[in-house]
Amino acid sequence: MNSYSDYFTYSGRDLVCDGASLREAAARFGTPLYVYTERGFRERLLEIEKALEGIDHLVCYSIKSNSNINLLKIMTGLGSGMDVVSGGEIYRALAAGASPGKIVFAGVGKTDEEIAYALDSGILMFNCESMLEIDEINRIALRKNMVAGIAIRINPDVDANTHHYITTGKKENKFGVAIDHLRENFKKLGDTRGVTLLGIHAHIGSQITSIEPFVAALDRQVALIEELRRAGFDSIRYINMGGGFGIRYRDEEFFPVARLAEEIKKRIASLGLTLIIEPGRYLSGNNGALLVKVLFKKKSGAKTFLITDGAMNDLIRPSLYNAYQHILNCVRRDGSEVVDVVGPVCESGDFFAKDREITVSAQGDYLAVMSAGAYGMSMASRYNSRRLPAEVLIGSDGKAKLIRERDTFEDLVAKERLEKLV
Ligand code: LLP
Repeated sequence: MNSYSDYFTYSGRDLVCDGASLREAAARFGTPLYVYTERGFRERLLEIEKALEGIDHLVCYSIKSNSNINLLKIMTGLGSGMDVVSGGEIYRALAAGASPGKIVFAGVGKTDEEIAYALDSGILMFNCESMLEIDEINRIALRKNMVAGIAIRINPDVDANTHHYITTGKKENKFGVAIDHLRENFKKLGDTRGVTLLGIHAHIGSQITSIEPFVAALDRQVALIEELRRAGFDSIRYINMGGGFGIRYRDEEFFPVARLAEEIKKRIASLGLTLIIEPGRYLSGNNGALLVKVLFKKKSGAKTFLITDGAMNDLIRPSLYNAYQHILNCVRRDGSEVVDVVGPVCESGDFFAKDREITVSAQGDYLAVMSAGAYGMSMASRYNSRRLPAEVLIGSDGKAKLIRERDTFEDLVAKERLEKLV
């Protein structure tokens, strides 16, 4: 039995996703192939919604984790808002039918063009990361005769105990505004006519497995909001805790959403605030797998390499963060062996797993790299002129639907122009 997911399990010897055989999906659509479970996306969101019942809240799915518009549509259909970080993500969110009034826009480096696009689209608010950015939004909003809703992302200086590449709430990180610095700017902020302060935002990191860092950050946010209100900022209506809820890659405990919700309720129920959270990985991560085919089983000295048709360009997390992603064979066999699972890209960093004990696998087998629904396809590239993979959604009816075609060779050069060279 595979215990990371209720959605990807063995049925007899076949690995299935909501009843659909992954071996059949791989054979039908080709590999490398991302497969997602619709039911999983729905149920994770509903779980959060249920936990937050009783307080005003808005879940803004962090679409950077997986931004296929079909998935965004599922989330939107359930009332979710969107957390975006670029003009491209605003475009995607709108293309999927997201309500602009539920879009929050984060990012340390927003361009003038993106700010104008966001204002014209009527988003709920900008999550601002510096006073400089607020000046810029103010200038553009005034030019358009508009008032921009903003939240200020504070840097709460708490340690989220996660990988140093994805911890964001320590004072040495580039994100957010230090609380002292914000204090020095209260007056200026009050005088800035093109923006209105709607909330305080924090995002302390990603793949966080305990609730304590969230609670510590929340306490700082609440104290700051009270201070701001005393200073006359009576427009504050939102408290945004960001994303970061951890998922199961190996044997992590499931993130205690309900327990965190209780702590949140205790702290904000009486403050007249709407809570915003921005989960990405929690909604998408365990709901996707990357299917790859074993091209060769190559022995070299003491090592056995399973060389697959998927590579670091399709799923970069193991290469980039040394992240653990569990690997299952789409057809379970007896016995196990220790292997490196690698791709064909010309880099030694191109691997999915090293010295990993997995089911005995043979040339032609399909492997499933698990928990690949978050930061898989959304971080994929065309390095080595490899075509971006296809994506398939297993619907609640157990049927496989192609939600993104595999790139064609033509796609690879579509934007290049053959110029006459001298
Ligand atoms: N809100 C903000 C402002 C963020 O920067 C992020 C993620 C999220 C929400 C969503 O965080 P989540 O709930 O997914 O943890 N590529 C890395 C993760 C980078 C996360 C960046 N920010 C990985 O593959 O582990």
